[in-house]
Amino acid sequence: MTDREKERAIRIALEAATWAPSVHNSQPWSFSITGDEIAVRADLERKLRYGDAMGRQQLISCGAALFNLIITLRCQGYEPVARILPDPDRPSLLATVRAGEPTDVDELTKALCDEVKRRRTHRAGFTDLPVPDRLVDGLVAQAAGEGARLTPVRSAVAVEVVAALTQAAQGVQSQDRVLNLEVIRWALPPGSSRTDGVPADAYPTEPARTTPYFPQRDYAWRHAWGNASDQSASTSSGVLTLLTTSGDTREEWIACGRALQRALLYASAHGVSAAFHTQALEMHHLREYLRQELCSGEYPQMIMRLGITFDDTTGIRRPLSDVLDA
Ligand SMILES: Cc1cc2nc3c(=O)[nH]c(=O)nc-3n(C[C@H](O)[C@H](O)[C@H](O)COP(=O)(O)O)c2cc1C
Repeated sequence: MTDREKERAIRIALEAATWAPSVHNSQPWSFSITGDEIAVRADLERKLRYGDAMGRQQLISCGAALFNLIITLRCQGYEPVARILPDPDRPSLLATVRAGEPTDVDELTKALCDEVKRRRTHRAGFTDLPVPDRLVDGLVAQAAGEGARLTPVRSAVAVEVVAALTQAAQGVQSQDRVLNLEVIRWALPPGSSRTDGVPADAYPTEPARTTPYFPQRDYAWRHAWGNASDQSASTSSGVLTLLTTSGDTREEWIACGRALQRALLYASAHGVSAAFHTQALEMHHLREYLRQELCSGEYPQMIMRLGITFDDTTGIRRPLSDVLDA
């Protein structure tokens, strides 16, 4: 393969990285290229100072971008060589990834790559169509492959508890002026030309209540924003899952982001979507309760519902020129 082919593969992989999910679509990353090596950095200007003071969700988001980068390089025929947090003196340098030796591309890699742009966050209930147990087992294996544990919550009582914690967190947060201002910064009015933040057509104006009730974040905040899709037939909460790590270090947050994205792409390849409810994880005592009571002492990093939906929304991302440092 020529240098020019490698350069092209690196650009395709960088473009794919930008399509990762991120908290409030803040896209809190930047990249640079030196030869055949890509540096992935946390963009501290884009960290949620209030809702994510420790930068945990930022690093999960960047970990998801890193996974897209890695899988896409492999899909382009180059074995990625990644170093995580390679320089203790530069903490915002999260990883370097080199496009290494030529490699064969397997079917699963291709299938995951195909979903990078297609996958979307869902923000409503799901249809009653079941998510097969075999698929859930597959998701558990995908997450484990990156060093995180995905656990389906099978007990109805435990699902009720997580829903109640989500309601409590959403209720408290909706009264918090500073937190609301932070969410509003990332909530886009209809017709906005911004390429970051949550667009008004990324959630229904009136999502039907799921049973049990998992409230959405309030991106519309007192406006009648949202898409007009009829959600009345979609009230299933789907399969509740918790993504956890054994510790709570920066390295584990990045691994969790990789695991999250690998599982999301695998789900998407099988027609399954995910809805996120991370409100309770932003409140220390609720997160600690979850850790002790429902996560066997592991640290909860993501709360997700998985299910089947027929939405067809498009996403927005900043162009590569905005995220690529000279
Ligand atoms: C760490 C993290 C936390 C998130 N928390 C929520 C959440 O609580 N509610 C929600 O609706 N979406 C949540 N999301 C999804 C993002 O809002 C979504 O990825 C982003 O808006 C981009 O949209 P897309 O995933 O459809 O491309 C979260 C994503 C990440 C990575």
